[in-house]
Amino acid sequence: MKINHDDIEEVLISADEIDARLDVLAREIDVHYEENAQSDGELVLVGILTGATIVMSDFSRKLETSSVIDWMSLSSYGSGTKSSGVVRVLKDLSTDIKGKNVLIVEDIIDSGVTLQWVVNDLKTRGAKSVEVVSLLNKQLNDSVSQKSRIVARWVGFNIPDKFVVGYGLDYAGKYRTLPYIGVLKSEVYS
Ligand code: IMP
Ligand code: MG
Repeated sequence: MKINHDDIEEVLISADEIDARLDVLAREIDVHYEENAQSDGELVLVGILTGATIVMSDFSRKLETSSVIDWMSLSSYGSGTKSSGVVRVLKDLSTDIKGKNVLIVEDIIDSGVTLQWVVNDLKTRGAKSVEVVSLLNKQLNDSVSQKSRIVARWVGFNIPDKFVVGYGLDYAGKYRTLPYIGVLKSEVYS
């Protein structure tokens, strides 16, 4: 069975646009870790499974700063298109991040609940620094949530408050392997 591109309402960001933006972010982030004396030492790239696998793979290969990759798997007890806020660790890091610089490589910030939880968790383990790069950042329609939400130090693209798939992002486990970011037709999930 082939991927049904007809389930996609609109292509928001093409594969080429993602690639070009990741180049720019990688250069900025290289400069940050080179210039910031406090950032000396090993850099641990942390990805949240499974959504961040594709962006981690592409972004990490553009980065010239020496780094190791590690993964966490979390369950946020959400199904459908919104996360619930209750976070459970299904797979923990294999690395001891105490005294290390951590860069969380995320696919998207929506409510930010999951990410906020991870940042707090990694800080309590004694990481020297915890920063976030997120490929996508949703501009929430609810301005109160938008203001109180965690911000990533580096963001690839700000996107409207729509449910998107592709480039690692799924709906019910599907569409992750699309090379672009697209808006899923609402009739597919409603
Ligand atoms: P948050 O906790 O609401 O910020 O989102 C947690 C996770 O939900 C993200 O890391 C994504 O894996 C997933 N997610 C949020 N918005 C979308 C979307 O529009 N499409 C697919 N997955 C999403
Ligand atoms: Mg995710």
